[in-house]
Amino acid sequence: MTRHFLRDDDLSPAEQAEVLQLAAALKRDRFSAKPLAGPQTVAVIFDKTSTRTRVSFAVGIADLGGSPLIIQSGESQLGGKESLADTARVLERMVSAIVWRTYAQAGLEEMAAGTRVPVINALSDDFHPCQILADLQTVQEHKGELAGLTMSYFGDGANNMAHSYLLGGATAGMHVRVAAPAGYLPDPAIVADAEAIAARTGGSVFVTTDAGEAADGADVMVTDTWVSMGKEDEKAERLSVFGDYAVDAALMARADADAIFLHCLPAYRGYEVSADVIDGPQSVIWDEAENRLHAQKALLAWLLSKNEEAAA
Ligand code: CP
Ligand code: NVA
Repeated sequence: MTRHFLRDDDLSPAEQAEVLQLAAALKRDRFSAKPLAGPQTVAVIFDKTSTRTRVSFAVGIADLGGSPLIIQSGESQLGGKESLADTARVLERMVSAIVWRTYAQAGLEEMAAGTRVPVINALSDDFHPCQILADLQTVQEHKGELAGLTMSYFGDGANNMAHSYLLGGATAGMHVRVAAPAGYLPDPAIVADAEAIAARTGGSVFVTTDAGEAADGADVMVTDTWVSMGKEDEKAERLSVFGDYAVDAALMARADADAIFLHCLPAYRGYEVSADVIDGPQSVIWDEAENRLHAQKALLAWLLSKNEEAAA
Protein backbone atom coordinates (compact mmCIF):
# COMPACT_ATOMS: atom_id res chain seq x y z
CA MET A 1 0.00 0.00 0.00
CA THR A 2 1.43 3.38 -1.03
CA ARG A 3 1.75 5.88 1.79
CA HIS A 4 0.18 9.27 1.11
CA PHE A 5 -0.13 12.44 3.21
CA LEU A 6 -3.66 13.72 2.73
CA ARG A 7 -4.44 14.71 6.32
CA ASP A 8 -2.34 15.24 9.43
CA ASP A 9 -3.23 11.93 11.02
CA ASP A 10 -1.87 9.99 8.06
CA LEU A 11 1.31 10.07 10.18
CA SER A 12 1.21 8.25 13.52
CA PRO A 13 2.68 10.09 16.52
CA ALA A 14 5.97 8.19 16.14
CA GLU A 15 6.08 8.85 12.39
CA GLN A 16 5.36 12.54 12.85
CA ALA A 17 8.23 12.75 15.34
CA GLU A 18 10.50 10.97 12.84
CA VAL A 19 9.61 13.43 10.06
CA LEU A 20 10.18 16.40 12.37
CA GLN A 21 13.54 15.02 13.42
CA LEU A 22 14.53 14.65 9.77
CA ALA A 23 13.29 18.19 9.09
CA ALA A 24 15.59 19.54 11.82
CA ALA A 25 18.51 17.55 10.38
CA LEU A 26 17.83 18.87 6.87
CA LYS A 27 17.68 22.40 8.23
CA ARG A 28 21.14 21.93 9.78
CA ASP A 29 22.56 20.37 6.60
CA ARG A 30 20.35 21.45 3.73
CA PHE A 31 21.88 19.51 0.83
CA SER A 32 22.69 16.29 2.70
CA ALA A 33 19.89 14.09 1.27
CA LYS A 34 19.38 13.35 -2.42
CA PRO A 35 16.53 10.79 -2.58
CA LEU A 36 15.29 12.36 -5.83
CA ALA A 37 18.68 12.20 -7.58
CA GLY A 38 18.39 11.34 -11.25
CA PRO A 39 16.78 13.80 -11.30
CA GLN A 40 13.37 12.31 -10.58
CA THR A 41 10.41 14.59 -11.23
CA VAL A 42 7.73 15.57 -8.72
CA ALA A 43 4.48 17.07 -10.04
CA VAL A 44 3.25 20.04 -8.00
CA ILE A 45 -0.30 20.94 -9.06
CA PHE A 46 -2.16 24.12 -8.13
CA ASP A 47 -5.92 24.67 -8.39
CA LYS A 48 -5.53 27.70 -6.07
CA THR A 49 -2.92 30.45 -5.86
CA SER A 50 0.23 30.13 -3.72
CA THR A 51 3.53 31.77 -2.84
CA ARG A 52 5.07 29.73 0.01
CA THR A 53 3.85 26.29 -1.02
CA ARG A 54 4.93 26.74 -4.61
CA VAL A 55 8.39 28.09 -3.76
CA SER A 56 9.10 25.71 -0.88
CA PHE A 57 8.17 22.61 -2.90
CA ALA A 58 10.05 23.79 -6.00
CA VAL A 59 13.18 24.62 -4.01
CA GLY A 60 12.87 21.58 -1.75
CA ILE A 61 12.50 19.11 -4.63
CA ALA A 62 15.61 20.63 -6.26
CA ASP A 63 17.48 20.45 -2.93
CA LEU A 64 16.67 16.71 -2.81
CA GLY A 65 18.25 16.23 -6.24
CA GLY A 66 14.93 16.18 -8.10
CA SER A 67 13.14 18.28 -10.67
CA PRO A 68 9.86 20.04 -9.80
CA LEU A 69 7.13 20.21 -12.44
CA ILE A 70 4.75 23.02 -11.48
CA ILE A 71 1.32 22.61 -13.08
CA GLN A 72 -1.40 25.27 -12.95
CA SER A 73 -4.42 23.00 -13.26
CA GLY A 74 -6.29 25.47 -15.51
CA GLU A 75 -3.57 24.97 -18.08
CA SER A 76 -3.88 21.16 -17.89
CA GLN A 77 -6.66 18.65 -18.65
CA LEU A 78 -7.65 18.59 -14.95
CA GLY A 79 -10.87 20.22 -13.78
CA GLY A 80 -13.50 18.13 -15.49
CA LYS A 81 -11.75 17.75 -18.83
CA GLU A 82 -10.27 14.38 -17.83
CA SER A 83 -11.07 12.15 -14.88
CA LEU A 84 -8.82 12.22 -11.82
CA ALA A 85 -8.32 8.48 -12.14
CA ASP A 86 -6.94 8.85 -15.67
CA THR A 87 -4.72 11.78 -14.66
CA ALA A 88 -3.36 9.76 -11.73
CA ARG A 89 -2.47 6.82 -13.94
CA VAL A 90 -0.68 9.00 -16.47
CA LEU A 91 1.31 10.88 -13.82
CA GLU A 92 2.48 7.73 -12.02
CA ARG A 93 4.22 6.55 -15.20
CA MET A 94 6.47 9.64 -15.15
CA VAL A 95 6.74 11.27 -11.73
CA SER A 96 7.90 10.06 -8.32
CA ALA A 97 5.31 11.94 -6.26
CA ILE A 98 2.28 14.19 -6.73
CA VAL A 99 1.79 17.32 -4.63
CA TRP A 100 -1.63 18.93 -5.06
CA ARG A 101 -3.34 22.09 -3.78
CA THR A 102 -7.04 21.77 -4.43
CA TYR A 103 -10.56 22.35 -3.11
CA ALA A 104 -12.25 19.07 -2.19
CA GLN A 105 -10.50 16.54 0.04
CA ALA A 106 -12.40 13.87 -1.90
CA GLY A 107 -10.39 14.75 -5.02
CA LEU A 108 -7.14 14.09 -3.18
CA GLU A 109 -8.49 10.79 -1.94
CA GLU A 110 -9.49 9.81 -5.47
CA MET A 111 -6.09 10.78 -6.85
CA ALA A 112 -4.34 8.78 -4.11
CA ALA A 113 -6.55 5.74 -4.69
CA GLY A 114 -5.65 5.79 -8.36
CA THR A 115 -1.86 5.98 -8.21
CA ARG A 116 1.13 4.07 -6.89
CA VAL A 117 3.18 7.22 -6.18
CA PRO A 118 2.72 9.21 -2.97
CA VAL A 119 0.16 12.02 -3.07
CA ILE A 120 0.73 15.00 -0.76
CA ASN A 121 -2.01 17.47 0.22
CA ALA A 122 -0.60 20.96 -0.36
CA LEU A 123 -3.86 22.45 1.03
CA SER A 124 -7.47 21.49 0.55
CA ASP A 125 -10.67 23.04 1.88
CA ASP A 126 -10.43 20.67 4.85
CA PHE A 127 -6.72 20.42 5.77
CA HIS A 128 -3.29 22.03 5.33
CA PRO A 129 -1.09 19.30 6.82
CA CYS A 130 2.24 20.41 5.30
CA GLN A 131 1.81 23.78 7.01
CA ILE A 132 1.23 22.13 10.36
CA LEU A 133 4.44 20.10 10.04
CA ALA A 134 6.31 23.37 9.50
CA ASP A 135 4.47 24.93 12.44
CA LEU A 136 5.35 22.03 14.72
CA GLN A 137 8.99 22.25 13.66
CA THR A 138 8.90 25.96 14.53
CA VAL A 139 7.33 25.38 17.94
CA GLN A 140 9.89 22.67 18.68
CA GLU A 141 12.73 25.05 17.79
CA HIS A 142 11.44 27.84 20.00
CA LYS A 143 10.05 25.79 22.88
CA GLY A 144 12.27 22.69 22.81
CA GLU A 145 9.28 20.32 22.90
CA LEU A 146 5.75 19.79 21.68
CA ALA A 147 3.99 17.35 24.00
CA GLY A 148 2.22 19.07 26.88
CA LEU A 149 2.25 22.55 25.34
CA THR A 150 -1.00 24.45 24.81
CA MET A 151 -1.60 25.73 21.27
CA SER A 152 -4.57 28.04 20.80
CA TYR A 153 -6.12 28.94 17.47
CA PHE A 154 -8.49 31.89 16.92
CA GLY A 155 -10.86 32.75 14.08
CA ASP A 156 -12.38 30.50 11.44
CA GLY A 157 -12.63 27.23 13.34
CA ALA A 158 -14.11 25.39 10.37
CA ASN A 159 -11.25 25.99 7.95
CA ASN A 160 -8.29 23.90 6.83
CA MET A 161 -5.84 25.37 9.34
CA ALA A 162 -8.10 24.83 12.36
CA HIS A 163 -8.74 21.23 11.34
CA SER A 164 -5.06 20.54 10.76
CA TYR A 165 -4.06 22.09 14.11
CA LEU A 166 -6.59 19.80 15.79
CA LEU A 167 -5.26 16.61 14.18
CA GLY A 168 -1.57 17.52 13.94
CA GLY A 169 -1.38 19.09 17.39
CA ALA A 170 -3.14 16.14 19.02
CA THR A 171 -0.76 13.77 17.21
CA ALA A 172 2.13 15.70 18.77
CA GLY A 173 0.58 15.33 22.26
CA MET A 174 -0.33 19.02 22.50
CA HIS A 175 -3.34 20.60 24.17
CA VAL A 176 -5.15 22.17 21.21
CA ARG A 177 -7.74 24.88 21.78
CA VAL A 178 -9.92 26.41 19.06
CA ALA A 179 -11.87 29.61 19.65
CA ALA A 180 -14.41 30.48 16.97
CA PRO A 181 -17.87 32.01 16.68
CA ALA A 182 -20.98 29.84 16.46
CA GLY A 183 -21.45 28.79 12.86
CA TYR A 184 -17.69 28.58 12.31
CA LEU A 185 -16.81 25.84 14.77
CA PRO A 186 -14.69 22.88 13.62
CA ASP A 187 -16.25 19.86 11.94
CA PRO A 188 -17.44 17.63 14.84
CA ALA A 189 -16.09 14.52 13.07
CA ILE A 190 -12.59 16.03 12.98
CA VAL A 191 -12.88 17.13 16.61
CA ALA A 192 -13.80 13.53 17.50
CA ASP A 193 -10.81 12.21 15.53
CA ALA A 194 -8.51 14.68 17.30
CA GLU A 195 -9.95 13.69 20.70
CA ALA A 196 -9.30 10.02 19.96
CA ILE A 197 -5.69 10.80 19.01
CA ALA A 198 -5.21 13.04 22.05
CA ALA A 199 -6.44 10.24 24.32
CA ARG A 200 -3.49 8.16 23.12
CA THR A 201 -0.83 10.89 23.09
CA GLY A 202 -1.65 12.66 26.36
CA GLY A 203 -2.86 15.77 24.56
CA SER A 204 -6.33 17.28 24.68
CA VAL A 205 -8.85 19.19 22.59
CA PHE A 206 -10.94 22.14 23.69
CA VAL A 207 -13.38 24.05 21.48
CA THR A 208 -14.98 27.27 22.69
CA THR A 209 -16.65 30.46 21.47
CA ASP A 210 -14.75 32.46 24.12
CA ALA A 211 -11.42 33.77 22.79
CA GLY A 212 -10.14 34.84 26.20
CA GLU A 213 -10.75 31.39 27.65
CA ALA A 214 -8.76 29.83 24.82
CA ALA A 215 -5.91 32.30 25.28
CA ASP A 216 -5.44 31.89 29.04
CA GLY A 217 -1.91 30.61 29.71
CA ALA A 218 -1.36 29.39 26.12
CA ASP A 219 2.19 28.63 24.95
CA VAL A 220 1.45 29.07 21.24
CA MET A 221 -1.04 31.54 19.78
CA VAL A 222 -2.12 31.05 16.18
CA THR A 223 -4.57 32.49 13.71
CA ASP A 224 -5.31 32.47 9.99
CA THR A 225 -7.12 34.61 7.44
CA TRP A 226 -10.85 35.03 8.02
CA VAL A 227 -11.47 34.65 4.27
CA SER A 228 -9.90 31.47 2.94
CA MET A 229 -9.43 30.79 -0.75
CA GLY A 230 -12.80 29.85 -2.20
CA LYS A 231 -14.72 31.90 0.42
CA GLU A 232 -14.25 35.31 -1.20
CA ASP A 233 -18.01 35.67 -1.83
CA GLU A 234 -18.61 35.55 1.94
CA LYS A 235 -16.03 38.25 2.73
CA ALA A 236 -18.40 40.95 4.08
CA GLU A 237 -20.22 38.52 6.37
CA ARG A 238 -16.97 36.96 7.59
CA LEU A 239 -15.36 40.29 8.43
CA SER A 240 -18.41 41.10 10.54
CA VAL A 241 -18.41 37.91 12.64
CA PHE A 242 -14.75 37.31 13.50
CA GLY A 243 -13.91 40.64 15.17
CA ASP A 244 -13.83 39.23 18.71
CA TYR A 245 -11.28 36.62 17.67
CA ALA A 246 -8.55 38.96 16.41
CA VAL A 247 -5.19 38.27 17.99
CA ASP A 248 -4.11 41.63 19.41
CA ALA A 249 -1.97 42.77 22.34
CA ALA A 250 -4.86 42.32 24.80
CA LEU A 251 -5.41 38.69 23.77
CA MET A 252 -1.65 37.99 23.77
CA ALA A 253 -1.52 39.36 27.33
CA ARG A 254 -3.76 36.52 28.48
CA ALA A 255 -1.34 33.91 27.08
CA ASP A 256 1.83 32.77 28.82
CA ALA A 257 4.41 35.58 29.04
CA ASP A 258 6.76 33.52 26.83
CA ALA A 259 4.08 32.58 24.30
CA ILE A 260 4.99 32.64 20.63
CA PHE A 261 2.74 33.77 17.78
CA LEU A 262 2.35 31.85 14.51
CA HIS A 263 0.49 32.60 11.27
CA CYS A 264 0.72 30.47 8.13
CA LEU A 265 0.52 33.61 5.95
CA PRO A 266 -0.64 35.40 3.90
CA ALA A 267 -1.75 37.68 6.76
CA TYR A 268 -4.15 40.58 6.86
CA ARG A 269 -2.91 43.04 9.48
CA GLY A 270 -5.75 44.80 11.26
CA TYR A 271 -8.11 41.88 10.71
CA GLU A 272 -7.17 38.46 12.19
CA VAL A 273 -3.99 39.86 13.79
CA SER A 274 -2.81 43.31 14.79
CA ALA A 275 0.41 44.66 13.28
CA ASP A 276 2.06 45.01 16.70
CA VAL A 277 1.59 41.27 17.36
CA ILE A 278 2.56 39.84 13.98
CA ASP A 279 5.52 42.21 13.66
CA GLY A 280 6.38 42.09 17.38
CA PRO A 281 8.93 40.14 19.45
CA GLN A 282 6.70 37.11 20.12
CA SER A 283 6.07 36.47 16.43
CA VAL A 284 8.03 33.63 14.78
CA ILE A 285 6.33 33.82 11.38
CA TRP A 286 9.52 34.02 9.29
CA ASP A 287 10.97 30.88 10.86
CA GLU A 288 7.58 29.27 10.29
CA ALA A 289 7.59 30.24 6.59
CA GLU A 290 11.17 28.97 6.14
CA ASN A 291 10.32 25.69 7.82
CA ARG A 292 7.88 24.85 5.01
CA LEU A 293 11.02 24.05 3.02
CA HIS A 294 12.64 21.79 5.61
CA ALA A 295 9.46 20.04 6.79
CA GLN A 296 8.26 19.22 3.27
CA LYS A 297 11.68 17.95 2.21
CA ALA A 298 11.62 15.66 5.23
CA LEU A 299 8.10 14.52 4.41
CA LEU A 300 8.97 13.77 0.78
CA ALA A 301 12.15 11.89 1.73
CA TRP A 302 10.27 9.94 4.40
CA LEU A 303 7.36 8.97 2.12
CA LEU A 304 9.69 7.91 -0.69
CA SER A 305 11.72 5.74 1.69
CA LYS A 306 8.58 4.11 3.15
CA ASN A 307 7.28 3.34 -0.32
CA GLU A 308 10.65 1.95 -1.41
CA GLU A 309 10.68 -0.29 1.68
CA ALA A 310 7.17 -1.50 0.88
CA ALA A 311 8.12 -2.22 -2.75
CA ALA A 312 11.30 -4.15 -1.81
N1 CP B 1 0.90 29.30 3.99
C1 CP B 1 0.73 28.98 2.68
O1 CP B 1 0.37 27.86 2.32
O2 CP B 1 1.05 30.00 1.84
P1 CP B 1 0.79 30.03 0.26
O3 CP B 1 -0.71 30.12 0.06
O4 CP B 1 1.51 31.27 -0.22
O5 CP B 1 1.33 28.78 -0.35
N1 NVA C 1 -7.02 29.08 5.29
C1 NVA C 1 -6.22 29.68 4.25
C2 NVA C 1 -4.82 29.20 4.33
C3 NVA C 1 -3.89 29.83 3.31
C4 NVA C 1 -2.49 29.26 3.36
C5 NVA C 1 -6.85 29.38 2.89
O1 NVA C 1 -7.27 28.24 2.68
O2 NVA C 1 -6.89 30.28 2.05
